Amino acid sequence: MRRPPFGALVEGMASAAPARFAYGGIIDETSGRGPMASLTLSACLDRFTSKFATSAALTDEGRKLIPGGYSRNSFNFGPHAVFVDTGSGAHIDTIDGHRLLDLNNNFTVNVLGHQHPSVTSALQAAIPQGISFGNPSTAEAELARILVDRIPSVERVQFSCSATESCMSAIRVARAYTGKSKVAKFEGGYHGFSDPLHISAHASLTPEYGPSESPTAVPESGGIPIEDIGNIIVLTQNDWAACEHILRTHADDLACLIMELQSGAGGLVVLEQEFVERLRDLTSELGIVLIFDETISLRAGYHGLQGVYGVTPDLTVMGKIIGGGLPLGALGGSADVMSVLENGSVTISGTHHGHKLSLIAGAACMSALNEAAFGKLNGQATRIMNELNEWSASRGSSFVVYGKGFSHMAYGYMKAPGLSVRTHRDYARNLDAERTQICSLELANRGFFPVHRGEFSLSLPMTDDDISNYIATLKGIAADIDF
Ligand SMILES: Cc1ncc(COP(=O)(O)O)c(C=O)c1O
Repeated sequence: MRRPPFGALVEGMASAAPARFAYGGIIDETSGRGPMASLTLSACLDRFTSKFATSAALTDEGRKLIPGGYSRNSFNFGPHAVFVDTGSGAHIDTIDGHRLLDLNNNFTVNVLGHQHPSVTSALQAAIPQGISFGNPSTAEAELARILVDRIPSVERVQFSCSATESCMSAIRVARAYTGKSKVAKFEGGYHGFSDPLHISAHASLTPEYGPSESPTAVPESGGIPIEDIGNIIVLTQNDWAACEHILRTHADDLACLIMELQSGAGGLVVLEQEFVERLRDLTSELGIVLIFDETISLRAGYHGLQGVYGVTPDLTVMGKIIGGGLPLGALGGSADVMSVLENGSVTISGTHHGHKLSLIAGAACMSALNEAAFGKLNGQATRIMNELNEWSASRGSSFVVYGKGFSHMAYGYMKAPGLSVRTHRDYARNLDAERTQICSLELANRGFFPVHRGEFSLSLPMTDDDISNYIATLKGIAADIDF
């Protein structure tokens, strides 16, 4: 018997009526219990696969056509992805007929939520004019102007299709500018999946990773050449003495240090203010190009996270929000360092680089993100962090919400109350991965869609009621886990 085609299955399921949006955060005042009491991982998984049964079936179907079922491994959420039908404002409707508050937001991209009128109308106006050209458009300078005006380090910008590409461009520019070839990065820093940089994005306490004061470069994937691994010098976050020693030792070979101020994909670690200031001074002294990868952290404020720290790098990588939901990456920097891109010394060119539609969507998105918008996002972020951490501490729970305090942060369970995360090895040491995973699965079960590993980001359409319900639901889950 012929199976129904993949597309037919999707269409059939998409017609299911969305279920009512139900929050599950009620705590019994007398017993302190949440609504479920004593959550186990297997019970959460059962509820998850049964709630998202169509998504589970689509994942299986997809595996017959696409390795893993979909082209992005990060879609995995527990045993399978959650397939989306539509997105509107702060919510997504899944193919299984459930409406969820979207706290994933395409891994921080959708800062304006879904179908924001500014972005949608800009694209609707642009499409009838043609979508792909071998000519520049005025949209490029428009978005470049916004970034130059806002981001302190950016005097010139070059666009690509993704932050992975712009990170690659950044190290090429730094190598050409300095005439040196090695690249320093932090253990736990993620800078895209390219061969030269997809190295030591996570940490482990196993001997393979070396001592904390001098970590070994470990590839994140098979297929990365040994030469690329040999070009990477790995540092530990917030360990000034070790970093200074390594940077001074390798200064003659080091073209650049590429870093996130708050790391993202490998887990959230916030760099300390004095540590960042010292790195700026030392890299200037040693002739090492300092690159801030602000792919995620540009959503921290009107001037990016570098504006919050008040520290200016030589180069900045941007992505995610700058495309307004379409693919776009950018490399920005001082006119001096970026001059290698116009004096013939460095060539970078991609067919879709600076795609007109991405630039138009990006300019519309960034224009809508005024100071008031950042104020609202950051106010809600602070509220989530303060309310949940105060509540958790008052119960002696090891549940925490952490991050620098802007609209991309994470929740998690530590192995004991009072433990925190200052370096990536602290994750391996201190994080209770199972109870953190229970939180993520239960959030999905109760009407919220975070990143499976505990990160979440806010979007502008979220109301104070959405935030209250999210806080109440996390309390309910933590109360059940702690019970
Ligand atoms: C800090 C950082 N740099 C680079 C990248 C790569 O971006 P993209 O996936 O758009 O290529 C990411 C993606 O999550 C990121 O978080």
